[in-house]
Amino acid sequence: MRPLIVIANWKLNGNLKSNQDWVQVVCRGMEKGMPAGRKYVVCPPFPYLAQCADLIQNCSAAFLSLGAQDVSRHETGAFTGEVSAAMLKEFACAYVIVGHSERRQMHGESDGLIAEKALQALDHGVTPVICVGETADERNSGREVEIVRSQVAKLVSVLQDRLADCLIAYEPVWAIGTGKVASAQVAQDMHRVIRLQLAEFDEDVASHVGILYGGSVKPDNAVELFAMPDIDGGLIGGASLDPQEFLAICQA
Ligand code: G3H
Repeated sequence: MRPLIVIANWKLNGNLKSNQDWVQVVCRGMEKGMPAGRKYVVCPPFPYLAQCADLIQNCSAAFLSLGAQDVSRHETGAFTGEVSAAMLKEFACAYVIVGHSERRQMHGESDGLIAEKALQALDHGVTPVICVGETADERNSGREVEIVRSQVAKLVSVLQDRLADCLIAYEPVWAIGTGKVASAQVAQDMHRVIRLQLAEFDEDVASHVGILYGGSVKPDNAVELFAMPDIDGGLIGGASLDPQEFLAICQA
């Protein structure tokens, strides 16, 4: 059985005060009881990892884990502005998002680079959450399956059976931050495509890998999405900034 995982991706949001309030509200809410067999992760910007690690440690519910929003493909060296997987590990990060569409689009990240970042994370015991997904134009021209399959193919060719220790997030770019959520069936269909592609490589890997959905998830659509057989949770952007909304999605 794959656990349901809900990840808050704060993107470029937060400050010392609002982070403290957020963790407090979420921890108090979780202490009242959460559905069994689920995992919850919060991914603040890099400078707040230490603060959030401390806050989470003081949360008696011990439900929340910490993640980062990106990682370098390099181990160490002259790479100004980069943050290594070893550094993330030192700050108690259990997860890291790689290949988010915002990084693919605004920073020109390729499938190859994303796979290398995932390898770095794995080498340091950090679970990569690898994002894939098509743009509106690609879907409108009927190429969504081809695009996502090509992204997944690169992951399979580089990561091979180490994919079993990764999470994949299917995030259709047209659904991110737009309020246009993919219907549960549209999302399920693509999650199925991804799982079947993984099964072409290795059935065990396919059955282990958690595939999360991301893109305009809200408390009112999360129930239907999470009920789908190949949707193993969500990567939540905008709605994760409000701790009550995030809690409601975690309980969906
Ligand atoms: O990482 C999160 C995704 O980009 C989804 O963002 O929930 O604001 O649409 P969103």
